[in-house]
Amino acid sequence: MATDWAVDYNTKIPNNIDLAGDNRVLRALESWLPGYLNWWHDMGPSGFQESLVYLRTAVTVDPKGWAKFDYVRMPEYRWGILLAPPEPGRTIPFGDHKGEPAWQEVPGEYRAMLRRLVVIQGDTEPASVEQQRHLGSTAPSLYDLRNLFQVNVEEGRHLWAMVYLLFKYFGRDGREEGDELLRRRSGSEDAPRMLGAFNEATPDWLSFFMFTFFTDRDGKMQLESLGQSGFDPLSRTCRFMLTEEAHHMFVGTSGVARVIEATLSAMRRAGVADPTDIEAVRALGVIDLAAIQRKINLHFSLSLDLFGAEMSSNAANFFRSGLKGRYQETKIADDHRLLDATYPVLRVVDGAIAPVNEPALPALNMRLRDDYVEDCARGIERWNKLIASYGHEYRLLLPHVAFHRKVGEFRGVQASPAGALLTAEEWGRQADEWLPGEQDRLFIESLMKPESRPGEFAPWIAPPKTGIDNRPGDFEYVLISP
Ligand SMILES: [Fe+2]
Ligand SMILES: [Fe+2]
Repeated sequence: MATDWAVDYNTKIPNNIDLAGDNRVLRALESWLPGYLNWWHDMGPSGFQESLVYLRTAVTVDPKGWAKFDYVRMPEYRWGILLAPPEPGRTIPFGDHKGEPAWQEVPGEYRAMLRRLVVIQGDTEPASVEQQRHLGSTAPSLYDLRNLFQVNVEEGRHLWAMVYLLFKYFGRDGREEGDELLRRRSGSEDAPRMLGAFNEATPDWLSFFMFTFFTDRDGKMQLESLGQSGFDPLSRTCRFMLTEEAHHMFVGTSGVARVIEATLSAMRRAGVADPTDIEAVRALGVIDLAAIQRKINLHFSLSLDLFGAEMSSNAANFFRSGLKGRYQETKIADDHRLLDATYPVLRVVDGAIAPVNEPALPALNMRLRDDYVEDCARGIERWNKLIASYGHEYRLLLPHVAFHRKVGEFRGVQASPAGALLTAEEWGRQADEWLPGEQDRLFIESLMKPESRPGEFAPWIAPPKTGIDNRPGDFEYVLISP
């Protein structure tokens, strides 16, 4: 193993970037740490701060085996600064500077744009911890409780990753941004988080799984495109974050699959053949597929808003300046400059939704959103295979991208999940079928009873196929009061 991949745990802040040799940044981070811990105590998981949680911690950034598992109290988690190893001779892969050596320092002319990108990404990380802070008290198993906390400590680490970039490369205003990241609060009236979906509540565990499936996946797409950045420290930071992010999406994909599995197997046992017989299904104490579909509709549409407007001069500038690339930029076969290229953008034209060829550069948000939709669709397919394996025709669907939008081209229209444009009255009549309502909320809330016996699971969710770190089914993932 190359030595520069290993993580130094001797400094207060673990890192693989020789922080010990960079006193200015080390001291800035050390003086930020108490404020971070205060934030974690106030806004991190409610309760369980003394519990021992079986967590993974990064000990190297070697993709073949980077983590070790052990019992840790969350406030003692070693939040570190970890960057993917440098690629010798890396060049800027796209935009006006394509082919020039990647920047190791902030290019002066792009400083403001770059800081904005780092701050927006950074703001989402603590936001999701805040949104999820009350879920511990209703966890359906110790396994799930542990996964929640793993996601939470890693989102905390992602905040550290962005704060490191701010402190190292943006001087005094970077430090001010670092403080602001601890001051804003998800859902707050006067100091909300920067993006809409990160101010929504995560009221129950099905929402948590949907959030990790849909919203963490937006995070993955953003990290993938920042991972292409010509600013090398940002690229390396994001590339290591992606290795952690994969687990967050696993929690979402497998979480929803386990909810579906519990529903279908309870129906089979009870001889309920029709998944649309809501009353019969809910009487079994499991969540009906229609309610799952409504949660998909909500979380998908909220997450689509995170991509911003379809046509955006910012998106064009980020790309031209070499700061933010496309999903899998280096694998795309074109000139990576896009000055004359076009891209089909969905727009409302004469009362209908239709693709319109637009200049490719300002359409980059749309393109990234298309890549995201495709990625989501693959996950939905896995859930549908599971439903089919129980012999049901029922299929879960991604709603149309025009459905329930607050940002961009479709913010002014009402569209059905199938993509038909509706009058306000038609929308009002059917919105309840398409989005989670009060009945769903009360029913799902009634199921959210904590299960904390090792190896036991709340009846509305199936056990996982395998344990974390290959632990057996009755492994005690969280020692709640050690
Ligand atoms: Fe994250
Ligand atoms: Fe995440």
